[in-house]
Amino acid sequence: MSNSSPQNNPLEDFEYQLLDTGSFQKLEQFGPHRFTRPAPQAIWPKSLSKEEWKKSEGEYNYFKGKETGGEWKLFKKLPQDGWEIKFHNLTFKVQPTGFGHIGLFPEQALNWLWIMDRLKQLNGKKIKVLNVFGYTGASTLAAASAGAEVTHIDASKGSVTWAKKNLELSGLAEKPVRWIVDDAMKYMQREHRRGNKYDAIIMDPPSFGRGPKGEVWNIENKLSEFMEACQNILSDSPEFLLFTTHSPGFSALTLKNMMLTYLSPCQTGKFETGEMFIPDVSSGLNLPNGFYARWVAH
Ligand SMILES: C[S@@+](CC[C@H](N)C(=O)[O-])C[C@H]1O[C@@H](n2cnc3c(N)ncnc32)[C@H](O)[C@@H]1O
Repeated sequence: MSNSSPQNNPLEDFEYQLLDTGSFQKLEQFGPHRFTRPAPQAIWPKSLSKEEWKKSEGEYNYFKGKETGGEWKLFKKLPQDGWEIKFHNLTFKVQPTGFGHIGLFPEQALNWLWIMDRLKQLNGKKIKVLNVFGYTGASTLAAASAGAEVTHIDASKGSVTWAKKNLELSGLAEKPVRWIVDDAMKYMQREHRRGNKYDAIIMDPPSFGRGPKGEVWNIENKLSEFMEACQNILSDSPEFLLFTTHSPGFSALTLKNMMLTYLSPCQTGKFETGEMFIPDVSSGLNLPNGFYARWVAH
């Protein structure tokens, strides 16, 4: 994945493009709308002209001196309820949010394809997939569209409602998806007590977050407990695991090491690890955006 060239653009068939990066910013096209957002990792100069960047319809900036928390300046009126963009057979609603997100993490696109591919390889075998920290459901939709029974957990009711909407927009409303608004850890521990098991787990923990009752998630001091919770709810013969992060210091090797340490099935099978990225169509550079570790049983 990390050797991909722009000629082999993994984001083909996606109504999203990273138009340019540089000077700590990124210029992105989400369907018909264009935005400028911070990209602290883009330490090189921009490729496109000022005129191209000026076509941006909104700019998000962090509050001065901070790398979280910020505000949008919108230069045009945008559709109040968002708009739709397509990725292969999936449709997502997108719109700027208070956190500076647009409702999708495009660097995950290769992982969505990987999930679909894993499930295809199982030739119709029915498996249970858990998507923890599921946000607006892109991975849930990928798994459901490829035939899995999915449980989607997120602490935010708004994100879960958005994910449900995405499932409907994709014409997948009849697929077996359970929606859970809960603290990830609490829910997984409850599933363990109930004896419920999963054949695949997709996990994208944030650096910091809160459960619906204010439960604190902090990746540095909760990850070990979280991995134990994963081990406890894995079925006897799990099929795949996808572990991604965007937290500084949590590299691909760290993710793999945690899986090897806590998840017994990972002693056999195959790993792929690397850096997530988004191809910048102007410069041909790949914008780094977090890490992944993927494991398959066969
Ligand atoms: C990095 S996003 C996940 C992105 C998603 N996997 C994707 O690719 O679209 C983190 C998500 O974790 C959720 N979250 C934060 N703390 C949580 C907690 N304690 N329990 C459950 N979900 C939590 C947030 O609401 C947010 O939707």
